[in-house]
Amino acid sequence: MSSVLNVVILAAGKGTRMYSSLPKVLHSLAGKPLVQHVIDTARGLNPAQLVVVYGFGGEQLQNALAGQNLGFALQAEQLGTGHALAQAVPQLQGDVTLMLYGDVPLTRLQTLQQLLAASQGGKLGILTDILDDATGYGRIVRNGAGQVTHIVEQKDCTPDEAAIKEMNTGIMALPTVKLAGWLSELKNDNAQGEYYATDLIALAVRDGIEIATVHPAMHWEAEGVNNKLQLAALERIHQQELAKQLLTAGVGLADPERIDIRGEVLHGQDVYIDVNCVFEGRVELGQGVRIGANCYLKNVTIAAGAVIHPFCHLEEATVGAGSLIGPYARLRPGAELAAEVHIGNFVEVKKSTIAQGSKVNHLSYIGDTTMGAGVNVGAGTITANYDGVNKFRTVIEDEVRIGSNNVLVAPITIGAQATTAAGSVITKDAPAGQLTVARAKQVSIANWQRPTKK
Ligand code: UD1
Ligand code: CA
Repeated sequence: MSSVLNVVILAAGKGTRMYSSLPKVLHSLAGKPLVQHVIDTARGLNPAQLVVVYGFGGEQLQNALAGQNLGFALQAEQLGTGHALAQAVPQLQGDVTLMLYGDVPLTRLQTLQQLLAASQGGKLGILTDILDDATGYGRIVRNGAGQVTHIVEQKDCTPDEAAIKEMNTGIMALPTVKLAGWLSELKNDNAQGEYYATDLIALAVRDGIEIATVHPAMHWEAEGVNNKLQLAALERIHQQELAKQLLTAGVGLADPERIDIRGEVLHGQDVYIDVNCVFEGRVELGQGVRIGANCYLKNVTIAAGAVIHPFCHLEEATVGAGSLIGPYARLRPGAELAAEVHIGNFVEVKKSTIAQGSKVNHLSYIGDTTMGAGVNVGAGTITANYDGVNKFRTVIEDEVRIGSNNVLVAPITIGAQATTAAGSVITKDAPAGQLTVARAKQVSIANWQRPTKK
């Protein structure tokens, strides 16, 4: 019989040391709010209920976490972790309550599963860790038989207790039926004048409840964020873990210390990523894709064998198999490139489809365009898609050659296999198969004299 689980996430702290108007738990780690990491991990436990205890910045927090089927409990005054937990108790039904912290983002699912397994059968489980220096944390006090008797907070420690290396991570699995009674017994006659959740341990021991302890595999699983220094440190730890996962799965990284993943990277085999690339949202890299140095990719799909040269910016775009992009290219939302397309330096593509084998290699803007296959666009070409009020489409049919430095004033269609002359401003449809020239005729004035100094 598996027991019914509640999760309570304590997130009422203001986060004074962040020096920010944003509540602490909404600060981002790997592109996602701290508390969202905790929620996402907790979801893996299939809890019957997930309650966030909030205080400071309640409206911001509820907006940021809207639509996730969460319970919210307001802790109007921050009177301690025990008091915070008590605010959620009226919403709890079930056997086990797992208490997590909104500012401890990297605890792994398997660690929480181990804690829950250890607390089965009505035990109280505590996630503890052994640190060389446990300064600042609550200490786990055990009796001569090695059984946990209570937790003592740093500020209430005797020198002997301060020497204890086993610390309280704060994460606990508690028998739900006991909570209301125990919490009503908490007192705040301690150094901080707070109602401590840690005092639940002594009450459980008094009531004959067995205490089980579990350690996380990694110290960083219990590390919290109180300031931006700690946030930056955890970000690096997390990025190193994500880089390790990619390497282990066969992705080549020029340097695992120089990659940032703020979302998920899905990949085929033999993908290679050079230094300083940033991945946001959902990025899919097909087999053999190569990403050059200093690229930014957000919500993009890149098919097999495509190469993204250095310094490219790609967002909400699709790149077909074997395509070559950059260096210095920008694919904006709605850029959909088929196979074998070449987009070269200083080319911007927006809301346009480009069919197989077409090339836009230099200094161009292609917006709101439907481009056929086998097209070549000369350097410095602009689709003038906007009259200042409305946007219009440009259609360039198969195997067209656009000369250098053209302006294609939309709405306009360039027929299949048409050629446009260099320097043309094309304002009317260009017929298929013909050369269209739209520029002033060149004249030379034979007897012209250069001006002379008067
Ligand atoms: C707490 C533990 C300590 C443990 C440490 C681990 C207690 C009394 N102490 O100490 O044993 O080693 O965490 O990091 O529990 N919070 C509220 N409302 C409050 C107070 C706190 O929601 O009234 C939230 C905070 O936002 C935070 C968490 O609870 O997410 C921990 O609170 P904090 O004040 O940082 O506890 P510590 O003193 O670090
Ligand atoms: Ca803390």
